[in-house]
Amino acid sequence: SRKYLLNFKGCNFERTLVDMKILEKLDDFEIRDDDVFVITYPKSGTVWTQQILSLIYFEGHRNRTEKWDTLDRVPFLEYNIRNVDIENRPSPRLFASHLPYYLAPKSLKNNKAKIIYVYRNPKDVLISFFHFSNLMVRLEASNTLENFMEKFLDGKVVGSLWFDHIRGWYEHKNDFNILFMMYEDMKKDLRSSILKISSFLEKDLSEEEVDAIVRQATFENMKFIPQANYNSILKNEFGTRNNEGAFLRKGAVGDWKHHMTVEQSERFDRIFQEEMKDFPLKFIWD
Ligand code: PPS
Repeated sequence: SRKYLLNFKGCNFERTLVDMKILEKLDDFEIRDDDVFVITYPKSGTVWTQQILSLIYFEGHRNRTEKWDTLDRVPFLEYNIRNVDIENRPSPRLFASHLPYYLAPKSLKNNKAKIIYVYRNPKDVLISFFHFSNLMVRLEASNTLENFMEKFLDGKVVGSLWFDHIRGWYEHKNDFNILFMMYEDMKKDLRSSILKISSFLEKDLSEEEVDAIVRQATFENMKFIPQANYNSILKNEFGTRNNEGAFLRKGAVGDWKHHMTVEQSERFDRIFQEEMKDFPLKFIWD
Protein backbone atom coordinates (compact mmCIF):
# COMPACT_ATOMS: atom_id res chain seq x y z
CA SER A 1 0.00 0.00 0.00
CA ARG A 2 3.06 2.26 0.16
CA LYS A 3 2.80 2.88 -3.53
CA TYR A 4 -0.61 4.46 -3.00
CA LEU A 5 -0.56 5.94 0.47
CA LEU A 6 1.51 8.69 1.99
CA ASN A 7 1.52 8.91 5.76
CA PHE A 8 1.76 12.41 7.16
CA LYS A 9 1.73 12.76 10.97
CA GLY A 10 -0.23 9.55 11.39
CA CYS A 11 -2.81 10.08 8.68
CA ASN A 12 -2.88 8.41 5.26
CA PHE A 13 -3.24 10.49 2.09
CA GLU A 14 -3.43 9.52 -1.56
CA ARG A 15 0.19 9.82 -2.55
CA THR A 16 -0.03 11.15 -6.10
CA LEU A 17 -2.74 13.74 -5.55
CA VAL A 18 -1.91 15.19 -2.16
CA ASP A 19 -0.38 18.65 -2.15
CA MET A 20 2.69 18.42 0.11
CA LYS A 21 3.21 22.18 0.11
CA ILE A 22 -0.21 22.57 1.67
CA LEU A 23 0.19 19.68 4.13
CA GLU A 24 3.45 21.09 5.44
CA LYS A 25 1.95 24.53 5.94
CA LEU A 26 -1.45 23.43 7.29
CA ASP A 27 -0.70 24.73 10.77
CA ASP A 28 -0.24 28.24 9.44
CA PHE A 29 -2.85 28.17 6.72
CA GLU A 30 -4.77 31.39 7.12
CA ILE A 31 -8.47 30.90 7.68
CA ARG A 32 -10.96 33.68 7.02
CA ASP A 33 -14.07 34.15 9.16
CA ASP A 34 -16.29 33.52 6.17
CA ASP A 35 -14.56 30.33 4.95
CA VAL A 36 -16.80 27.27 4.78
CA PHE A 37 -15.59 23.67 4.95
CA VAL A 38 -17.22 20.36 4.24
CA ILE A 39 -15.21 17.82 6.19
CA THR A 40 -15.74 14.10 5.85
CA TYR A 41 -14.19 10.71 6.08
CA PRO A 42 -13.95 9.52 2.43
CA LYS A 43 -17.11 8.11 0.81
CA SER A 44 -19.47 9.74 3.29
CA GLY A 45 -21.18 12.33 1.09
CA THR A 46 -18.43 14.82 0.26
CA VAL A 47 -19.28 15.40 -3.39
CA TRP A 48 -22.95 15.64 -2.56
CA THR A 49 -22.32 18.34 0.04
CA GLN A 50 -19.87 20.13 -2.26
CA GLN A 51 -22.69 20.33 -4.78
CA ILE A 52 -25.14 21.61 -2.16
CA LEU A 53 -22.70 24.31 -1.01
CA SER A 54 -22.01 25.41 -4.55
CA LEU A 55 -25.74 25.57 -5.28
CA ILE A 56 -26.37 27.61 -2.14
CA TYR A 57 -23.62 30.15 -2.88
CA PHE A 58 -23.57 30.44 -6.66
CA GLU A 59 -26.64 31.44 -8.62
CA GLY A 60 -24.87 30.57 -11.83
CA HIS A 61 -24.47 27.05 -10.58
CA ARG A 62 -28.03 26.88 -9.36
CA ASN A 63 -29.48 28.14 -12.64
CA ARG A 64 -27.10 26.09 -14.78
CA THR A 65 -25.74 29.22 -16.45
CA GLU A 66 -22.11 28.53 -15.63
CA LYS A 67 -19.69 25.80 -16.67
CA TRP A 68 -17.69 25.56 -13.43
CA ASP A 69 -17.21 22.09 -12.02
CA THR A 70 -18.25 21.66 -8.40
CA LEU A 71 -14.67 20.67 -7.70
CA ASP A 72 -13.51 24.14 -8.77
CA ARG A 73 -16.19 25.87 -6.74
CA VAL A 74 -15.41 23.77 -3.67
CA PRO A 75 -11.80 22.62 -4.03
CA PHE A 76 -10.21 20.13 -1.68
CA LEU A 77 -7.78 21.81 0.67
CA GLU A 78 -5.20 19.03 0.80
CA TYR A 79 -5.86 17.64 -2.68
CA ASN A 80 -5.57 20.73 -4.81
CA ILE A 81 -6.05 18.78 -8.03
CA ARG A 82 -6.76 21.77 -10.27
CA ASN A 83 -4.15 24.06 -8.70
CA VAL A 84 -6.68 26.60 -7.53
CA ASP A 85 -5.02 29.70 -6.07
CA ILE A 86 -6.81 29.29 -2.75
CA GLU A 87 -4.91 32.00 -0.93
CA ASN A 88 -6.03 34.71 -3.32
CA ARG A 89 -9.52 33.43 -3.89
CA PRO A 90 -12.30 35.92 -3.17
CA SER A 91 -14.54 35.29 -0.17
CA PRO A 92 -16.51 33.35 0.71
CA ARG A 93 -14.15 30.47 0.04
CA LEU A 94 -15.63 26.98 0.07
CA PHE A 95 -13.44 23.97 0.78
CA ALA A 96 -13.74 20.21 1.02
CA SER A 97 -11.39 18.16 3.17
CA HIS A 98 -10.81 14.70 4.62
CA LEU A 99 -8.38 15.97 7.25
CA PRO A 100 -8.55 14.55 10.77
CA TYR A 101 -9.29 17.17 13.44
CA TYR A 102 -5.71 17.25 14.69
CA LEU A 103 -4.33 18.33 11.31
CA ALA A 104 -6.84 21.14 10.83
CA PRO A 105 -5.27 24.57 10.33
CA LYS A 106 -4.57 26.14 13.74
CA SER A 107 -6.60 29.23 12.97
CA LEU A 108 -9.70 27.15 12.27
CA LYS A 109 -9.93 26.67 16.02
CA ASN A 110 -12.16 29.12 17.82
CA ASN A 111 -12.82 30.85 14.54
CA LYS A 112 -16.08 31.90 12.95
CA ALA A 113 -15.32 29.84 9.84
CA LYS A 114 -17.99 27.18 9.46
CA ILE A 115 -17.54 23.44 9.14
CA ILE A 116 -20.13 20.96 7.96
CA TYR A 117 -19.08 17.47 9.03
CA VAL A 118 -20.94 14.79 7.09
CA TYR A 119 -20.93 11.23 8.38
CA ARG A 120 -22.42 7.99 7.09
CA ASN A 121 -22.92 4.54 8.53
CA PRO A 122 -19.52 2.91 8.22
CA LYS A 123 -20.73 -0.30 6.61
CA ASP A 124 -21.95 1.68 3.61
CA VAL A 125 -18.75 3.75 3.72
CA LEU A 126 -16.76 0.53 3.58
CA ILE A 127 -18.71 -0.82 0.58
CA SER A 128 -18.51 2.48 -1.28
CA PHE A 129 -14.77 2.69 -0.55
CA PHE A 130 -14.24 -0.90 -1.71
CA HIS A 131 -15.82 -0.18 -5.09
CA PHE A 132 -14.08 3.14 -5.45
CA SER A 133 -10.67 1.64 -4.68
CA ASN A 134 -11.18 -0.96 -7.36
CA LEU A 135 -12.32 1.66 -9.85
CA MET A 136 -9.64 4.28 -9.37
CA VAL A 137 -6.11 3.56 -10.60
CA ARG A 138 -4.60 5.74 -7.90
CA LEU A 139 -5.95 3.57 -5.10
CA GLU A 140 -4.96 0.02 -4.22
CA ALA A 141 -7.44 -2.52 -5.57
CA SER A 142 -8.63 -5.44 -3.43
CA ASN A 143 -9.59 -8.81 -4.89
CA THR A 144 -12.21 -9.47 -2.29
CA LEU A 145 -14.29 -7.52 0.16
CA GLU A 146 -12.64 -9.54 2.93
CA ASN A 147 -9.35 -8.18 1.75
CA PHE A 148 -10.52 -4.58 1.71
CA MET A 149 -12.22 -4.94 5.08
CA GLU A 150 -8.85 -5.87 6.61
CA LYS A 151 -7.32 -2.68 5.28
CA PHE A 152 -10.30 -0.57 6.34
CA LEU A 153 -10.27 -1.92 9.89
CA ASP A 154 -6.51 -1.43 10.02
CA GLY A 155 -6.79 2.16 8.82
CA LYS A 156 -4.61 1.34 5.81
CA VAL A 157 -6.73 3.49 3.51
CA VAL A 158 -6.96 7.17 2.65
CA GLY A 159 -8.20 8.99 5.75
CA SER A 160 -6.89 6.21 8.05
CA LEU A 161 -9.30 4.77 10.63
CA TRP A 162 -12.95 5.71 10.29
CA PHE A 163 -13.45 5.39 14.07
CA ASP A 164 -10.66 7.86 14.82
CA HIS A 165 -11.86 10.36 12.24
CA ILE A 166 -15.42 10.73 13.49
CA ARG A 167 -14.51 10.43 17.18
CA GLY A 168 -11.80 13.03 16.80
CA TRP A 169 -14.02 15.63 15.19
CA TYR A 170 -16.92 14.91 17.51
CA GLU A 171 -14.91 15.00 20.71
CA HIS A 172 -13.33 18.32 19.71
CA LYS A 173 -16.48 19.88 18.34
CA ASN A 174 -16.45 22.66 20.90
CA ASP A 175 -13.20 23.99 19.47
CA PHE A 176 -14.88 24.59 16.14
CA ASN A 177 -17.97 26.15 14.58
CA ILE A 178 -19.29 22.84 13.33
CA LEU A 179 -22.56 21.30 12.15
CA PHE A 180 -22.89 17.50 12.03
CA MET A 181 -24.98 16.15 9.19
CA MET A 182 -25.85 12.51 8.63
CA TYR A 183 -25.88 11.08 5.10
CA GLU A 184 -28.93 8.96 5.87
CA ASP A 185 -30.90 12.03 7.05
CA MET A 186 -29.95 13.87 3.87
CA LYS A 187 -31.16 10.90 1.88
CA LYS A 188 -34.42 10.69 3.81
CA ASP A 189 -35.28 14.37 3.67
CA LEU A 190 -33.04 16.38 1.36
CA ARG A 191 -35.09 19.55 1.63
CA SER A 192 -34.87 19.80 5.43
CA SER A 193 -31.20 18.94 5.27
CA ILE A 194 -30.57 21.76 2.82
CA LEU A 195 -32.55 24.15 5.02
CA LYS A 196 -30.51 23.06 8.03
CA ILE A 197 -27.28 23.69 6.14
CA SER A 198 -28.39 27.05 4.74
CA SER A 199 -29.59 28.23 8.14
CA PHE A 200 -26.24 27.24 9.68
CA LEU A 201 -24.57 29.25 6.91
CA GLU A 202 -26.96 32.15 7.57
CA LYS A 203 -28.05 32.16 3.94
CA ASP A 204 -31.58 33.30 3.31
CA LEU A 205 -33.09 31.45 0.40
CA SER A 206 -36.47 31.81 -1.22
CA GLU A 207 -38.80 28.88 -1.60
CA GLU A 208 -37.94 28.69 -5.32
CA GLU A 209 -34.23 28.80 -4.63
CA VAL A 210 -34.52 25.93 -2.19
CA ASP A 211 -36.56 23.98 -4.75
CA ALA A 212 -33.88 24.50 -7.39
CA ILE A 213 -31.14 23.38 -5.00
CA VAL A 214 -33.06 20.26 -3.99
CA ARG A 215 -33.73 19.40 -7.60
CA GLN A 216 -30.07 19.59 -8.55
CA ALA A 217 -28.76 17.79 -5.49
CA THR A 218 -30.70 14.55 -5.83
CA PHE A 219 -28.64 11.52 -6.75
CA GLU A 220 -30.71 10.92 -9.88
CA ASN A 221 -30.07 14.42 -11.20
CA MET A 222 -26.49 14.82 -10.03
CA LYS A 223 -25.56 11.72 -11.96
CA PHE A 224 -26.39 13.54 -15.19
CA ILE A 225 -25.03 17.00 -14.37
CA PRO A 226 -21.51 17.08 -15.86
CA GLN A 227 -20.38 19.81 -13.44
CA ALA A 228 -21.43 17.66 -10.48
CA ASN A 229 -20.93 14.00 -11.34
CA TYR A 230 -17.10 13.93 -11.44
CA ASN A 231 -17.19 11.83 -14.64
CA SER A 232 -14.63 13.93 -16.46
CA ILE A 233 -12.41 14.21 -13.39
CA LEU A 234 -12.48 10.44 -12.99
CA LYS A 235 -11.56 9.92 -16.59
CA ASN A 236 -9.05 12.73 -17.11
CA GLU A 237 -7.43 13.46 -13.79
CA PHE A 238 -7.87 10.34 -11.66
CA GLY A 239 -7.91 7.51 -14.18
CA THR A 240 -10.04 4.38 -13.86
CA ARG A 241 -9.42 0.66 -14.19
CA ASN A 242 -12.91 0.12 -15.51
CA ASN A 243 -14.71 2.44 -17.88
CA GLU A 244 -18.08 1.32 -16.61
CA GLY A 245 -17.60 2.64 -13.11
CA ALA A 246 -18.95 5.95 -11.90
CA PHE A 247 -18.17 8.21 -8.97
CA LEU A 248 -21.88 8.40 -8.23
CA ARG A 249 -22.30 4.66 -7.93
CA LYS A 250 -25.52 3.83 -6.12
CA GLY A 251 -26.18 6.53 -3.53
CA ALA A 252 -28.22 4.23 -1.34
CA VAL A 253 -28.62 3.47 2.35
CA GLY A 254 -27.99 -0.14 3.36
CA ASP A 255 -26.19 -1.33 0.23
CA TRP A 256 -23.78 -3.18 2.57
CA LYS A 257 -26.46 -5.86 2.94
CA HIS A 258 -25.93 -6.84 -0.68
CA HIS A 259 -22.21 -7.29 -0.18
CA MET A 260 -21.31 -8.36 3.35
CA THR A 261 -21.69 -11.90 4.55
CA VAL A 262 -23.42 -12.44 7.88
CA GLU A 263 -20.04 -13.24 9.39
CA GLN A 264 -18.43 -10.06 8.06
CA SER A 265 -21.35 -8.01 9.27
CA GLU A 266 -21.25 -9.53 12.75
CA ARG A 267 -17.52 -9.05 12.99
CA PHE A 268 -17.97 -5.42 11.98
CA ASP A 269 -20.71 -4.97 14.61
CA ARG A 270 -18.46 -6.32 17.35
CA ILE A 271 -15.65 -3.96 16.46
CA PHE A 272 -18.06 -1.05 16.06
CA GLN A 273 -19.57 -1.65 19.49
CA GLU A 274 -16.14 -1.81 21.06
CA GLU A 275 -14.76 1.29 19.31
CA MET A 276 -17.89 3.42 19.53
CA LYS A 277 -19.20 2.66 23.00
CA ASP A 278 -20.37 5.84 24.73
CA PHE A 279 -20.43 7.65 21.41
CA PRO A 280 -23.59 9.80 21.37
CA LEU A 281 -24.31 10.11 17.64
CA LYS A 282 -26.77 7.56 16.31
CA PHE A 283 -26.43 5.74 13.01
CA ILE A 284 -28.94 4.49 10.49
CA TRP A 285 -27.95 1.18 8.93
CA ASP A 286 -30.76 0.51 6.46
S1 PPS B 1 -15.04 11.03 -1.84
O1 PPS B 1 -14.22 10.24 -2.79
O2 PPS B 1 -14.56 10.84 -0.48
O3 PPS B 1 -15.12 12.43 -2.21
O4 PPS B 1 -16.48 10.36 -1.93
P1 PPS B 1 -17.82 10.96 -1.30
O5 PPS B 1 -18.36 11.97 -2.20
O6 PPS B 1 -17.62 11.32 0.12
O7 PPS B 1 -18.75 9.68 -1.30
C1 PPS B 1 -19.21 9.08 -2.48
C2 PPS B 1 -20.54 8.40 -2.15
O8 PPS B 1 -21.57 9.40 -2.05
C3 PPS B 1 -22.61 9.07 -2.96
N1 PPS B 1 -23.33 10.26 -3.43
C4 PPS B 1 -24.63 10.49 -3.18
N2 PPS B 1 -25.53 9.80 -2.47
C5 PPS B 1 -26.79 10.28 -2.43
N3 PPS B 1 -27.19 11.38 -3.05
C6 PPS B 1 -26.33 12.13 -3.79
N4 PPS B 1 -26.74 13.23 -4.42
C7 PPS B 1 -24.96 11.68 -3.87
N5 PPS B 1 -23.84 12.12 -4.49
C8 PPS B 1 -22.87 11.25 -4.21
C9 PPS B 1 -21.87 8.34 -4.06
O9 PPS B 1 -22.76 7.65 -4.89
C10 PPS B 1 -20.96 7.43 -3.25
O10 PPS B 1 -21.65 6.38 -2.58
P2 PPS B 1 -21.91 4.93 -3.18
O11 PPS B 1 -22.51 4.14 -2.05
O12 PPS B 1 -20.60 4.36 -3.62
O13 PPS B 1 -22.87 5.11 -4.32
